[in-house]
Amino acid sequence: VRCSVFIATSLDGFIARPDGSIDWLSIVERAGQDYGYGDFFASVDTLLVGRKTYETALGFPSWPWSGKRVIVLTRGARQPVQDEELWSGEPTSIARRLEERGAKHVYVDGGDVIRQFLAARVVHDVTVSTVPILIGRGVRLFGDLAEDVRLELVESRAFDSGLVRSRYRVV
Ligand SMILES: NC(=O)c1ccc[n+]([C@@H]2O[C@H](COP(=O)([O-])OP(=O)(O)OC[C@H]3O[C@@H](n4cnc5c(N)ncnc54)[C@H](OP(=O)(O)O)[C@@H]3O)[C@@H](O)[C@H]2O)c1
Repeated sequence: VRCSVFIATSLDGFIARPDGSIDWLSIVERAGQDYGYGDFFASVDTLLVGRKTYETALGFPSWPWSGKRVIVLTRGARQPVQDEELWSGEPTSIARRLEERGAKHVYVDGGDVIRQFLAARVVHDVTVSTVPILIGRGVRLFGDLAEDVRLELVESRAFDSGLVRSRYRVV
């Protein structure tokens, strides 16, 4: 199974404000420009998201992940709202389960979840879209690691809005 990350960060490395808001992403919103998100989304069959990212999605005007299998990682007990599956466990065993269930390309989302899956070498590629803003504090994309993770730059592209999208392969 191939696990991919596709995420936007502030220049200072945050994926959300302390309260979870992502309002600052709007500075790069341009009509007809989705920075490759649509193509990426179409390429995945499964979303594997942390409970906090899932709660952000539940607050959107419409469910953003229709047509995909959605797996929410949580250690708590809750009821699915749509037909999401609630899982918990270590990245390598989750990856094995995904494989067993026939997943081919998985979109891994949520800072906490991304960090664990990167550290466990379960992530194949990472696309980071850097938004030209400093927000000072918030939810970090990256953090402590027991050992280095090497990545190889596959492509980097700057857009007129100032967003820079870089795609890496985990070595
Ligand atoms: N800028 C962007 O492109 C972007 C993209 C995605 C998300 N976001 C934002 O990022 C924020 C969320 O990121 P985050 O790092 O705070 O959290 P997250 O990764 O979305 O969710 C963390 C939660 O996932 C559950 N979890 C994590 N690993 C698990 C495991 N191995 N087994 C079982 N459960 C596990 C736990 O839920 P329980 O506490 O329920 O046990 C944990 O509290 C949101 O505000 C969201 O809007 C931004």
